[in-house]
Amino acid sequence: MTSVGFPRALGTCYYPEHWPQEVWAKDAQMMVESGLTWVRIGEFAWSRLEPKPGVLELEWLEEAIKTLTSAGLKVVLGTPTATPPRWMLDKHPDMLAVDAEGRPRGFGSRRHYCFSHAGYREESRRITGILAEVFGSSVAAWQTDNEYGCHDTTLSYSDAALEAFQDWLEARYGTIEALNAAWGNVFWSMEYDRFDQIGLPNLTVTEPNPAHVQAFRRFSSDQVVAFNRAQVEEIRKWSDAPISHNYMGRVTDFDHYDVGADLDIATWDSYPLGFLEDRVGASSERQKAFSRQGDPDFQTFHHDLYRAVGKGRWWIMEQQPGPVNWAPYNPAPLAGMVRLWSWEAFAHGAEAVCYFRWRQAPFAQEQMHSGLLRPDSAPAAGLAEVRQVASELAAAPHVEANVADVALVFDYDAEWAWAVQPHGQGLSYFDLVFEHYRALRRAGLNVDIVAPTTRDFTAYKAVFAPGLMHLSDDLRHALETADCPCVLGPRTGARTLDFEIPVPLPPALSGLDVTVTQVQTLRPDRPVALAGGGHAVGYIETLDGSAATILEDTSGACVAVQTQNLIYCGAWLDEAGLDRLVALVADSADVSIRSLPDGVRVRRTATQEFWFNHNAHSVDTEAGPMAPASVIWRDL
Ligand code: GAL
Repeated sequence: MTSVGFPRALGTCYYPEHWPQEVWAKDAQMMVESGLTWVRIGEFAWSRLEPKPGVLELEWLEEAIKTLTSAGLKVVLGTPTATPPRWMLDKHPDMLAVDAEGRPRGFGSRRHYCFSHAGYREESRRITGILAEVFGSSVAAWQTDNEYGCHDTTLSYSDAALEAFQDWLEARYGTIEALNAAWGNVFWSMEYDRFDQIGLPNLTVTEPNPAHVQAFRRFSSDQVVAFNRAQVEEIRKWSDAPISHNYMGRVTDFDHYDVGADLDIATWDSYPLGFLEDRVGASSERQKAFSRQGDPDFQTFHHDLYRAVGKGRWWIMEQQPGPVNWAPYNPAPLAGMVRLWSWEAFAHGAEAVCYFRWRQAPFAQEQMHSGLLRPDSAPAAGLAEVRQVASELAAAPHVEANVADVALVFDYDAEWAWAVQPHGQGLSYFDLVFEHYRALRRAGLNVDIVAPTTRDFTAYKAVFAPGLMHLSDDLRHALETADCPCVLGPRTGARTLDFEIPVPLPPALSGLDVTVTQVQTLRPDRPVALAGGGHAVGYIETLDGSAATILEDTSGACVAVQTQNLIYCGAWLDEAGLDRLVALVADSADVSIRSLPDGVRVRRTATQEFWFNHNAHSVDTEAGPMAPASVIWRDL
């Protein structure tokens, strides 16, 4: 088996401050006996670390770290900045984030701070520096904060954000005349005389200028990056341990690649059953079929995305081990799924899978969230599967090199642009990319999700880059000249950096003579049928030009075109349409594809092929018969 230098390991999230000190050693011993290596602690403990401003009580944490490490565990220490204690509000009354309706987000849960508040950013730097100085050599890894953006907290409409936004705009545009021209502020007499007149794009009478909103989205993302960077700078002064952040599923309000650039490892928090209920967007029929297994592609989409965010290094920091508390319905995973999810992560290159949480809390907000132990410390249902994975890992101890056939570009800036100007209900860039990802996985292909800063595609047999509303010149050039088929559209290059329709009209690709002459969005009950099968749904462009048609609608209008390696698809295709597009590209790229049974997915590593059956029933596959909720692997 090929090692790429990191052992595969399991872990858990532990809150020593929730339990009497007497149980710590027993907990640690049981973690080790269960086959766990990592334990993440501390990320919500600020009120116990600094009960009053400037009064530090770190001895208990020192003791906890000592107890855990002397049992043989490795500690990930979280900085506690997602939960500023109540006294912080007395010190900085204006530190609260403010929602789009202008309401401050109150104390009494978590993540109530505004990323732009300079005073709070300094407090966060200060507590991080203290922890790094005291514990920098005793911990094996760090986590900054907890789930940036969770509970809709990236965008804040506070006074602090307003001032910082005005400064950000001045630094970006230089003069107010330049900003007025770039945004087209002559429209509706929106011209400004000075930067300090510019407001935040909320509470306007009707829609604000999309250029204004997109600028605010970019600014808000930069504030997260700056907030995170301040902590990273402090930690690096005192510690060589790698630094991570735990990202989320389908949280796209900040540019994760930008945050990830300052970190060593990307981690993410995987709650497959909660996600299926509240953010995948699957039909109710699929929700029913997969209610106890989760969506077969949603987790792996994030594995593949965060592998890119982590520049190759990624973990699951929080894995659902049983029912959660926060989705509309919270069933228990089907027997086998905790093991399946764990192996799926390893097959996608994870270095570690940590389960949230060690023991279910009998108090406060997450009483209904299971852990590996019940509140009475007896093993909960998930623990047996964790132990099984631990023993299986002994035979497969190393992270393996990834091999992907296809690159799929995911661009946070495009996600914001589609949200700012969807042009039709329910059209989201995330969904567009995710539907392409699903189609590639249905065809049995390994996918690398890549950043829009990628310039070298030589490792791939095909590239998919749907929906890049603004296309930088460099990426445009890289795609135009790549040595493999590249699929663009719809909406490629549809807006300039400052949200104007460019002239010449999009997509303006050199080497592919096609022009989008009209765009329209479609009611869900008015799809456009393609000749030969499949439909355009939600969104379709009128294409003009001399490039050869590869897909057309039943009236003979062109839907997708190709010249050599460049392919442009001017529509949002349904499943059948995307399957056809993938088959056409695979043919051009000389890649062999499969037709997998519904709910079955395959992942190849350098040396093995893993098969996952996400169904609640048995399935016959090429690799052999598979039990419900099971994984098998074979050597290549
Ligand atoms: C995550 C969070 C954890 C816990 C968990 C519950 O989003 O990081 O602290 O709240 O959800 O599922």
